[in-house]
Amino acid sequence: MAASFVDCGKTVCDVGCDHGKLSLYLLQNGRAERIIATDINKAPLQKAIDLITGAGLGPKAEFYLTDGLQNIEKADDVSHVVIAGLGGQTMAQIIHSAPFIKENKVRLILLPAQSGHTIRKYLYENGFDIETEATVEENGKFYSCISAVYTGQKKTADVFTCYIGKSRLCEGYAAKGYFSMVYSQLEKKQKGFTIENGFASREISEAMDKIRNMTDK
Ligand SMILES: C[S@@+](CC[C@H](N)C(=O)[O-])C[C@H]1O[C@@H](n2cnc3c(N)ncnc32)[C@H](O)[C@@H]1O
Repeated sequence: MAASFVDCGKTVCDVGCDHGKLSLYLLQNGRAERIIATDINKAPLQKAIDLITGAGLGPKAEFYLTDGLQNIEKADDVSHVVIAGLGGQTMAQIIHSAPFIKENKVRLILLPAQSGHTIRKYLYENGFDIETEATVEENGKFYSCISAVYTGQKKTADVFTCYIGKSRLCEGYAAKGYFSMVYSQLEKKQKGFTIENGFASREISEAMDKIRNMTDK
């Protein structure tokens, strides 16, 4: 899913590349001219190196053992940063520590493994626009892939926008599954809020009502 969001990529950073399958796919399918693959752990990075050099694409790739996008050289050439399978909080930290993303209006392709609400909140509050989202199911779990770019327009996002964002425009099986997963998260959040405050949060209730209306259609 994340790969299909990379269109005519020049240099694409694959952050947390693990086995390197995403990078390989992007190179083999002409979606990236060049890859910068990073991982914070040695073993997965080595797997990516072996996979990509084994496919004869070593000259089109650079590999960094690093946290996020730290110490990336030639960041000026980067058209896309893809971060798939990490949590929303970690994604926000990685983006925040790489000012070239804002400066060069690099397109972000983000597929949070959890805490999608944290990354949407970060993006809106820090001047990024979420252009589009696509929901996806993998092994019985539901995710939403986010495409975003820096515009400089900071926005405050309510609970519904943080938890659902532009996935509200998605349809079909994966969308329904995603909405119902988020609904359960909000139910838990509401319980916690009520225990702490002695009353329910109106904003959370409104977000849950909106999701119920969407799924009833
Ligand atoms: C679940 S895998 C994601 C694999 C791949 N991106 C995909 O979607 O198929 C997470 C990978 O991110 C790496 N990772 C976790 N935190 C990281 C960070 N701060 N910077 C770079 N890599 C990180 C882990 O070592 C692991 O290989």
